[in-house]
Amino acid sequence: MKLDKSERRSILVFAILFVLLVLVFVYTVFTWRMDNTQEFVTSITKEDRTKKGENNEDINIFVAMTQKESWPGTDADGKSTIGAEYDGVIFNNSGKNIVDWSMTIYMPKNKNGEPIPGTFDSSWNGEYTNNGDNITFIPADYLNVIPKNEEKTYGFVMYAGTNLDFSEFEICGYYRTILPEYPGFWIATVGFLIWLTWVVAWAVMDARARKLKKQKAHDEKIIEETMQVFANFIDAKDEYTKGHSTRVSFYSQKIAKRMGMSDEEIKMIGYMGLMHDCGKIAIPDDVLNKKGALTEEEREIIKEHTTRGGQMLENFTSLPAIRDGALYHHERYDGKGYPQGLIGKEIPLYARIINVADAFDAMNSDRCYRNRLPKNRILSELRNNAGTQFDPEIVEYMIAMYQEGKI
Ligand SMILES: [Fe+2]
Repeated sequence: MKLDKSERRSILVFAILFVLLVLVFVYTVFTWRMDNTQEFVTSITKEDRTKKGENNEDINIFVAMTQKESWPGTDADGKSTIGAEYDGVIFNNSGKNIVDWSMTIYMPKNKNGEPIPGTFDSSWNGEYTNNGDNITFIPADYLNVIPKNEEKTYGFVMYAGTNLDFSEFEICGYYRTILPEYPGFWIATVGFLIWLTWVVAWAVMDARARKLKKQKAHDEKIIEETMQVFANFIDAKDEYTKGHSTRVSFYSQKIAKRMGMSDEEIKMIGYMGLMHDCGKIAIPDDVLNKKGALTEEEREIIKEHTTRGGQMLENFTSLPAIRDGALYHHERYDGKGYPQGLIGKEIPLYARIINVADAFDAMNSDRCYRNRLPKNRILSELRNNAGTQFDPEIVEYMIAMYQEGKI
């Protein structure tokens, strides 16, 4: 499939947009992955414990531990101790889910600054390990995730020489985010949907335009071939001028191109050239192909091929200019032509071009009663009749092309 310039430009724009969307998506996924693999560590002190609250943006995680009830007892060495239930809560105020977390609970210190020894009696919701200085808490599987704005509880029963006031904690874990939380995800997704809609719409319209273009080319071919067949009929009628219409069409197009006309105009003048002598079909053969000199009356009959041609093409409304070529191609620039004696620019431009091409072919072709005229003779005829028979500007184009050997 051959692509034209605008199609190539569209595809380039689509490709650039696609690459940009992919870059946005890749960047978003990368940021998301990074956010999910970075471990956080948060220390919570006694002061932080009272800051719980969804609206408190200063604190991401709230941790507290309170003593529920206590009772006297003795330890294994027979020393008197205090047994107590310590209930804890951890609240996730971070706005993101927390996963794979663990917590360090620092043992309270005595007045000498030493950690107070304690012994576990029982515990729940995870594993607790006391190394003397602190307790490591690994939550049970069902507590592994703390959804945002939710809390989990933990706790144990511990024996110690005194009531314990747990006030220092350290949480570590991972924030778990989901892709739709990132603006880049939506920019890439919505952008891609718009992009896809755009590409599909463009492809449909392009396919339709291609079909129309193909149809148009086919229609033009039919017109062109029909015109050529008619031109063959016309030229077959006049045995002196075989191939004349085709050549006039060719020269007229060359002049039009040299004058800088558009492709459409050049095509039109080509059709006009093919049809310019169609009126000859209505002229009796014995007059048209008469050997020897014509009488005045016979000359007038032949001149009628212009008006007859104009009448024949009157109904050709889809290409109305074609009629002008047939009707006015024997008008002269000085007003002495026929059938209407139009002067100068009154004669339609296309007809003035055909007039020059027609005369040039008459001089440049062999006829059964004479050979083609020599080049210098043709040039001098063209020059001498500029402004009288021919439009002086148009004939200059013809002269230039002929001198350059382009026709
Ligand atoms: Fe003619």
